[in-house]
Amino acid sequence: MGAAKLLSLCLVLAAVAWTEGQRPRAVKVGALFDYDSTIGRAAQLSIELAVDDVNADRSVLAGTKMDLIMADTNCSGFVGTVQALQLMEKNVVAVVGPQSSVIGHVISHFVNELHVPLLSFAATDPTLSASEYSYFLRSTVSDYFQMCAIASIASYYQWKEVTAIFVDDDYGRGGVSALGDALATKRARISYKAVIPPDANKDVISDILFKVNMMESRVLVVHVNPDTGLRIFSIANELQMMTGGYVWIVTDWLAAVLDSSKSGYPKNMSYMQGLIALRQHIPDSAAKKKFISKWNTAARKRKIASGLNSYGFYAYDSVWIVAHAIDKFLNSGQQINFSADTRLHDSDTSIITLSTLKIFDGGEHLLQQLLLTNFTGLAGLVQFDSDRNLVHPAYEILNIGGSVPGLIGYWSNYSGLSVAAPETLYQKPPNMSSSAQQLSTMVWSGDSTTKPRGWVFPNNGQPLRIGVPNKPSFKEFVASGKGPDNVTGYCIDIFNAAVKLLPYPVPSKFISIGDGIHNPKYDDIINMVANNTIDVAVGDFAIIKNRTRIAEFTQPYIESGMVIVAPVKQSTSSAWAFFKPFTLEMWCVTGALFVFVGIVVWILEHRTNEEFRGTPQQQVLTIFWFAFSTMFFAHSKKHRKWSWAFRPDHMVICGADHQLKLHC
Ligand SMILES: *[C@@H]1O[C@H](CO)[C@@H](O)[C@H](O)[C@H]1NC(C)=O
Ligand SMILES: *[C@@H]1O[C@H](CO)[C@@H](O)[C@H](O)[C@H]1NC(C)=O
Ligand SMILES: *[C@@H]1O[C@H](CO)[C@@H](O)[C@H](O)[C@H]1NC(C)=O
Ligand SMILES: *[C@@H]1O[C@H](CO)[C@@H](O)[C@H](O)[C@H]1NC(C)=O
Repeated sequence: MGAAKLLSLCLVLAAVAWTEGQRPRAVKVGALFDYDSTIGRAAQLSIELAVDDVNADRSVLAGTKMDLIMADTNCSGFVGTVQALQLMEKNVVAVVGPQSSVIGHVISHFVNELHVPLLSFAATDPTLSASEYSYFLRSTVSDYFQMCAIASIASYYQWKEVTAIFVDDDYGRGGVSALGDALATKRARISYKAVIPPDANKDVISDILFKVNMMESRVLVVHVNPDTGLRIFSIANELQMMTGGYVWIVTDWLAAVLDSSKSGYPKNMSYMQGLIALRQHIPDSAAKKKFISKWNTAARKRKIASGLNSYGFYAYDSVWIVAHAIDKFLNSGQQINFSADTRLHDSDTSIITLSTLKIFDGGEHLLQQLLLTNFTGLAGLVQFDSDRNLVHPAYEILNIGGSVPGLIGYWSNYSGLSVAAPETLYQKPPNMSSSAQQLSTMVWSGDSTTKPRGWVFPNNGQPLRIGVPNKPSFKEFVASGKGPDNVTGYCIDIFNAAVKLLPYPVPSKFISIGDGIHNPKYDDIINMVANNTIDVAVGDFAIIKNRTRIAEFTQPYIESGMVIVAPVKQSTSSAWAFFKPFTLEMWCVTGALFVFVGIVVWILEHRTNEEFRGTPQQQVLTIFWFAFSTMFFAHSKKHRKWSWAFRPDHMVICGADHQLKLHC
C-alpha cells in the first residue's frame, strides 16, 4: 500500500513538472461587438479570418491554439456589459473589443480589477485614452486625431465657426469635445452644438436640424453612429439643407457605411453630393490586397451582404496584436492562472454569483507585452506611443460625389494636409507650414468648385444695423445728415472701403445715435453692440479696457495722443566746437578773471618775491603762469565741492532707478 501511494505521488509530481515548462494547449480570447452593425459585420469575418491565420501560423503561438469566444453586444450598453461579464467568467486572457465607446467606459472598471486587457478596434472616444482606463488599449485611431484633421480642413478653407451635430453618448460627446479643442488651436470654434439623442425619431431630428439652419454657420460637422447616421441626410435634404452654400464634414462613419454597401451609394442618395468625408488611411500593400480578396471570397461563401470597411482591417490586426503579446508572454515563462477576487463575495440574498469573476494573475505582464507590440499589420506599422495611441495616425479626405468617393488629399499627424500619401512623407522632415498644406480641388454641392463662404448673415439675411454717433463736434470723423447713406466722414469712408474689399455684398443700414446737439455717450453705443440692439458701431471710438470687455474692436486705424513740436537745428561740427559749452560772455569773463588774478598776485608778490622781478617780458610770463595754475587748482576744488554738495539731491531724483543713479 505504502509503495503504491509513493508511486502515485511521484507520478503527480512528474506531471506537475511536465506541465510547468509546457505551454498551454489553448488560450481563450474574447471578442465583443455588435453582430448586426456596419462595423460589426465587417469585423466579425475579419476576426474569424485572423484567428484562423494565427492558428495556421507556426511562428506565433506554436503549439497553443487561440480559442475565440465571441459575444454580441446587440447595440445596447446593458446587454454589452452583461455579455462582457459573461466573457470574463469564461477566463479569457484578453478581449478584442468592445466596439462601442459606451460599453468601453463601463467595462473598463471591471477589467481594471480583473486585469484583462481590452483591445478595441472601434471605440474611438478620445476620453478612453485617460489613465483611468489603464487596461483599455485602442488598435484604431482615436477621434482626437480625426478632430485635428477636421480643424485643419476648416483652417485650410478659412472657416472660423462650425456647427457640431453629434449623437448624445460617450462617443459623440468625447469626439466633439476634442473638436472644440482642436479648433481652438486654429483660432476657430464650435458656434453651435446640435445634440441628437441616441434614439431620436424623425421629428426630433427635423427640429434639431431646423434650429441648426437658424444659425449663422453653414459648416456642419456630423459625428454620429454609422447605423443611424444616414437618416440625418435624408431629413436635411427635405429641409433643403443639402444644397449649395452648406458645407457638410462627416467623420469616418460615413466612409464605413459607403464602403460596406456593396452597391456604392445606398439608393436615392444622389443628393449626397459635395460632402467632405474622412476615412482612416490604410496604406496600400500586397498584404492588404490579398486580405481584401480573401475576405470577399469568404463573404460570398457565407452570403454576407455587406462589404469590408476600415474597421475590418483594424479588427484583423487586433487579433494579431493579442497573439503576438500572448506569445511573448508565454515565452517569458509566465503561466496563465486566475485567482479569486477577495473583494467579490456572493451574498446569500442575491442570485448573482460574482465569485465566478476571477483575476487574471499575469494580466499586468500581458498588458506590458501589448504595449511593446511592434510589427507591420494590414493597417501599417502597429506600435503604441507613450500615450498608448497607434503611431502615424492618418486620414484620407474624400469628396463624396459621382459614383465613387474621390480622394482630395490626406491628413497626417506628421505633416498635416497633403496631396501625397503620408507614408511617402515620413522619410522627409515634417512640414507643417501653411504653404505646405494642400488639397486637390473639391467639387461642392451644386457641382461648383468655388469654396462656400461657410456662413450666412444672421436673421436670414436681414441687413446689418450699423450704429453711428450723431454729434456736434469733430464732424470730420462722422457727421449725420449728408451723403448717400445720410452719414459722412473719415470713419464712414474707411468702413465703406473695408466692406468693398469683401468678396460678397454686405447689406447694411446706418442708424444715427444721438440728437446732433449733445455728444452721445460712447460707452452707451458700445453697450448697444453688446446688447445686440445694433450689430456694428462705426465712429471715432477709443479702444479702452472697459470697452474691450464687452465688444470686439477692429485694428485701430488712427492714432491720437499728445505730442511736442520743436524746430530742428542742423548742428555743424567745426574746429571751434570746444567753444560751444560756454557762451561768448562766459569766455570773456573767464579771460578777464584770468588777467585780474594775475595782476593781483603780481601786486602782492613782486615786492617780496624774487620770481616776480626781472625784465617786463619775464614778469608778464610769470604772472600768467601763476594765474593759470592758481585758477586751475581753485576750479577743480570748487568742482569737487559742488559734486559733494549735490549728491544727496541727485539720489532723490533718481529714486529707485539704479541705472540712472550710477549714471548720475
Ligand atoms: C437584440 O436586440 C433586439 C432588439 O433591440 C432583440 O429583439 C434581440 O432579441 C436582441 N438579441 C439578443 C441576442 O439579445
Ligand atoms: C502627433 O504629433 C505631435 C506633435 O507633432 C506629437 O507630439 C505626437 O507624438 C504625435 N502623435 C502620434 C501618435 O504620432
Ligand atoms: C515647406 O513647404 C513649403 C511649400 O511646399 C516650402 O516652401 C518650404 O520650404 C517647406 N519647408 C521645409 C522646412 O521643408
Ligand atoms: C469700467 O466699468 C466698470 C463696470 O462696468 C465701472 O464701474 C467703471 O467705472 C468703468 N471705468 C471706467 C474708467 O469707465
